[in-house]
Amino acid sequence: MKFFVDTADTAEITELAATGLLDGVTTNPSLVHKAGRDFKEVVAEICHIVHGPVSAEVIALDHEGMMREAEVLRKIADHVCIKVPLTIDGLKTCKKLSADGTMVNVTLCFSANQALLAAKAGATFISPFVGRHDDNGFDGMSLIEDIRLIYDNYAFHTEILVASIRHPIHVLQSAKIGADVATMPPSVIKGLFKHVLTDKGIEGFLADWEKTGQSI
Ligand code: G3P
Repeated sequence: MKFFVDTADTAEITELAATGLLDGVTTNPSLVHKAGRDFKEVVAEICHIVHGPVSAEVIALDHEGMMREAEVLRKIADHVCIKVPLTIDGLKTCKKLSADGTMVNVTLCFSANQALLAAKAGATFISPFVGRHDDNGFDGMSLIEDIRLIYDNYAFHTEILVASIRHPIHVLQSAKIGADVATMPPSVIKGLFKHVLTDKGIEGFLADWEKTGQSI
């Protein structure tokens, strides 16, 4: 499973990229607002740090406007992935951009039928939002299961990019279902490394090693 980080904070991205485990980045207008930086400038900087897909979202709601914005964004770097919302205009844009060989991430997916439409429109990635699904009393993970089943039934190439991940259990469940990508806030990625027994084990080994009086 690929690991993407869901942030526009370049310091966090640099830190995580240094692990060698980061496959891409997703941003959205709220994350750009949080970073407090110029959108195009921050996307360009992210593209220098990470060489996998970097999602940058259009703001226009109409097809022509989305195409105009996509044109600007895709000039930033070849690995910019244009993020469009799951609407009729968004999917029209997805179809056109995908036919031109541009990567497209279809975002704000909340149903398996929407994911089916995105795959038919040639999306590179579909982004179902599991956390927001859970927040509203639905089961985010059963949505991922349904999409996996449908995509496998028809051998669609669209990758399932699980978004709105809130905790490591979402990552574990996504991996068990066979999702292609998990995009996570930096805190969740860091949380995956942690286990209290790992810390305790290191502590015990170090204490015993010290008693040996040796060095390596
Ligand atoms: O990038 C979209 C997504 O991951 C948003 O997450 O936590 O705002 O629902 P959240």
